[in-house]
Amino acid sequence: MGDLASRTRAILLAGLLLAPAAAAPPDAPPDAPPTEANRYADNACVRCHENLPGRLGQIVNLEWHDSVHYENEVTCDGCHGGDASVTTEQYPTFDEFKQAAHLWRNPEFSLLHDTSQGFVSRARGRSVSYFCGRCHTLIMEKHLGSPHGNFGDPSCLYCHGQGSHAIQPAAVDIIDTRSAAQGGRCALCHEAGTMQTVSSIKETLTEAAARIDSSAEQYRVLEEQMGYKNLSLEAMHHHKEETHSRLRQVFHSFNLREIGELTSSIEAVANQTDYAVDLVASLRSAQQRQTIVGLTSVVFLFAFAGLLVYYKHAFCEGYDKSDATPPDEDAGV
Ligand code: HEC
Ligand code: HEC
Ligand code: HEC
Ligand code: HEC
Ligand code: HEC
Repeated sequence: MGDLASRTRAILLAGLLLAPAAAAPPDAPPDAPPTEANRYADNACVRCHENLPGRLGQIVNLEWHDSVHYENEVTCDGCHGGDASVTTEQYPTFDEFKQAAHLWRNPEFSLLHDTSQGFVSRARGRSVSYFCGRCHTLIMEKHLGSPHGNFGDPSCLYCHGQGSHAIQPAAVDIIDTRSAAQGGRCALCHEAGTMQTVSSIKETLTEAAARIDSSAEQYRVLEEQMGYKNLSLEAMHHHKEETHSRLRQVFHSFNLREIGELTSSIEAVANQTDYAVDLVASLRSAQQRQTIVGLTSVVFLFAFAGLLVYYKHAFCEGYDKSDATPPDEDAGV
């Protein structure tokens, strides 16, 4: 911690020197092209940190800029707390400005502290989850209840940010099935036995995700082209993204039984959809059969009627012409 303190002091000094540059220039050219940084011009953390030397600035310019949170306007204070609305003009010195933004420092961040309001600077292992859990609540719960949460590692950052602020969109490929020799990130801690479980979780997730999509597509066709409606199937298919999300969240329990329960409920709805597709198809073909039978009967009846008319013309009218009276009447009774 000693060298950290001196490093921090050095950074602070550098920060002080750089402070004027960090302040918003009041007479900036009005037609300056909008830069990436302008988007967060009102955020005190971003404004000050992007000009700080070393790691303190790197986090903004390299890591956070390249993250899903930057895209979604989750700023430093979203995770760390503090007050991002303060401005340089309100404070006579850089240090006072900084302190107002940081509110208070809690370097030994412990789970016992209430962090809902205050400023949190560092976190390791389990405590990282409490940063993220401010927004990703269900995932935090599932993760903390998982074998990983209990152990404290891997943390959310290990899996999602390669240990840094550059958190990327989630993908099933984070589940790395490569061996330790190939540089697999999960095999770092896991023996071949557990790696089999890892592969099967990945397979389950991939299959369930594909099933959600294909089944939703089947339902769309049923609805749009055949006018089919079913409230209980709609519940899943009209909220496809939520279903994906639910699966991706619950998976963080790393509990095969819990994941299995969710995937079987998805499978059940998908099976019911298959059944509805079959039912509608067989109803349609029955209808078609009926139409064909109907048409055939009409054709047959017309043909029969035609035959009768022909018969009448060919034979009955012949008799009519040769004899004035029908032959039967002549024969008498
Ligand atoms: C006026 C400049 C300034 C502002 C505004 C500012 N910081 Fe800082 N911040 C610093 C400096 C300088 C350091 C280096 C350590 C120190 O001096 O406290 C630092 C350190 C940090 C650290 C690391 C703390 C540690 O324990 O090493 C975090 C996290 C942090 N800032 C987050 C924020 C957040 C979040 C905000 C907005 C709410 C913010 N900062 C606003 C200048 C600023
Ligand atoms: C998505 C949540 C999140 C956001 C957004 C975020 N941080 Fe952090 N930050 C963390 C976590 C978690 C840690 C602790 C993990 C670590 O130390 O590696 C941390 C650590 C830090 C540290 C000290 C440790 C280090 O890596 O040197 C600084 C400084 C810091 N953040 C500054 C910032 C600044 C400045 C921003 C805004 C550009 C920011 N953070 C945005 C979650 C976040
Ligand atoms: C202040 C709220 C907030 C905090 C705190 C926060 N996030 Fe996020 N996170 C968001 C938002 C908003 C999105 C974008 C919308 C979405 O995908 O949910 C997002 C997206 C993500 C994604 C991409 C999800 C996807 O669908 O691909 C990951 C991964 C992620 N966050 C991880 C983390 C981690 C890890 C932490 C803690 C270090 C964290 N978040 C802290 C709000 C937050
Ligand atoms: C062992 C690795 C691992 C850990 C630890 C982990 N995640 Fe994930 N996370 C994943 C994977 C893999 C996915 C994508 C799953 C999929 O696509 O089916 C994911 C998905 C997500 C998503 C997207 C959810 C959605 O609704 O689509 C978010 C957000 C997220 N994780 C945040 C977190 C947070 C916050 C933590 C810590 C509390 C965390 N993760 C811990 C591997 C991990
Ligand atoms: C820092 C070490 C570490 C890393 C890295 C790690 N794990 Fe784990 N994992 C553990 C520990 C510790 C346990 C609990 C003890 C055990 O079951 O081996 C565990 C348990 C598991 C379990 C439960 C095993 C079971 O039989 O129930 C699964 C599944 C799992 N991890 C998947 C993963 C995946 C996927 C990754 C890569 C994204 C990963 N782990 C990365 C440490 C780690």
